[in-house]
Amino acid sequence: MVRFQQKRTVFVETYGCQMNEYDTELVRAILTKADYAFTQDEAQADIIMLNTCAIREHAHRKVYGRVHKILHDRAGVPVKIGILGCMATNLRTELFEDRGLKIDFIAGPDSYKRLPQLISESYGEGKPFDLTLSEFETYSDVYPKREGGVNAWIAVMRGCNNFCTFCVVPYTRGRERSRSVGNIVEEAQRLAADGFKQITLLGQNVNSYRHEEHDFADLMAAVARVKGIERIRFTSPHPKDFPDKFLEVMAAHDNICKQIHLPLQAGSDRILELMNRTYTQEEFLRLVDNIRAKVPGIALSTDVIVGFCTETDEEFDQTLKVMREVEFDSAFMFKYSQRKGTIASRKMEDDVPEAIKTERIVALNELQRDIMEKLNARHVGQTMSVMIEKKGTRKSDDNFLGRADNNKLVTISDGDFQAGDIIPVMITGASPHQLRGVPVY
Ligand code: SAH
Ligand code: SF4
Ligand code: F3S
Repeated sequence: MVRFQQKRTVFVETYGCQMNEYDTELVRAILTKADYAFTQDEAQADIIMLNTCAIREHAHRKVYGRVHKILHDRAGVPVKIGILGCMATNLRTELFEDRGLKIDFIAGPDSYKRLPQLISESYGEGKPFDLTLSEFETYSDVYPKREGGVNAWIAVMRGCNNFCTFCVVPYTRGRERSRSVGNIVEEAQRLAADGFKQITLLGQNVNSYRHEEHDFADLMAAVARVKGIERIRFTSPHPKDFPDKFLEVMAAHDNICKQIHLPLQAGSDRILELMNRTYTQEEFLRLVDNIRAKVPGIALSTDVIVGFCTETDEEFDQTLKVMREVEFDSAFMFKYSQRKGTIASRKMEDDVPEAIKTERIVALNELQRDIMEKLNARHVGQTMSVMIEKKGTRKSDDNFLGRADNNKLVTISDGDFQAGDIIPVMITGASPHQLRGVPVY
């Protein structure tokens, strides 16, 4: 009698940025093809994989805590644990040496096609791993297995060549490489046919995209012409790559959302130089003016690090000054956290005391909250075009949650919609983090 072997089941959990989310979708596609099944129920899984992040201490500790919890919950019941993503290439085989962790296999961001092999080897004697970083792998031949929703990620380039001194990404993800325009446009067409209304182009350094003679402006223009894709976003760009040509493409296409994430990191020229950000405060401010002149109505968000090595109070004041001057629509703020392998960890001292980092981040948060309160209040009375993302909010199951073209969250308290509908909404109320409104019929 023929016995059918049951498929091995996999549970995967994702940490970190959108690129990691996208990579998990690639992993799902690769393992599904290799005849693995996915489960949402961790307790049922034969294999548990964590797609990890190494950007800050916090991300790091979270994963350690998670592995210990898995081992505790599964006491006695066999399970294979795999570490994928940026902690894999940051800590490498040190992960095996930590006996308390009991990791069975490790795969870095460029090795996911080898996962079927690594997993099956983990059922043998050894502890398989592949941490090779590639100059070519873009997974352009894998169509990610997405979970649905209105937005689909497309990684258009991978890796980073910038070497900001605080950052692990160039080491965990390797050198920059881009997919071809044709290949990306094909994926966008397929996504439109599959019902996705929005795509977000991803890269660690997305506007450094270059494939043969095509730059990021050419790519955006080509994607904007794909029928059925109503909204296009991109993240994360670097301030060094914003030619006018790109801003003109943004302004010319209605379906390119008028929103840019423009990481500032710090306001002081000395700190910016220590960070190797390649721009000064003045150049950054000039870029903001140019973006606002060429793309009217643009919303800007940013990332800021407080307490980078040797940052003084006066230098931090420069960060506050830029934040006050630019008035970002939103901001992600982080305390500097020294990361293994980075230039800062090798050449500089993490000498700003934790208490000062906390003081600075609190001050920055207060300022940013006031700015967002003021900017959001200006939307009251306006009609904005909102794409519905889901039904039900914390306040009421009957509310809908959507996003304006400028990426602001809008709660809608009336009507009946499907995810993906784009509707005009009259804004009736605002708080620092959200807008509220009613549909206009
Ligand atoms: N490629 C993106 C950044 C990815 S990391 C870009 O260049 O915009 C996201 C943010 O994390 C960074 O913008 C930075 O603000 C923050 N970050 C990176 N390394 C950090 C570190 N060592 N400590 C604190 N924050 C850090
Ligand atoms: Fe890190 Fe800088 Fe590259 Fe962004 S641009 S991923 S912050 S090295
Ligand atoms: Fe984290 Fe790697 Fe993304 S370090 S932020 S998962 S690129």
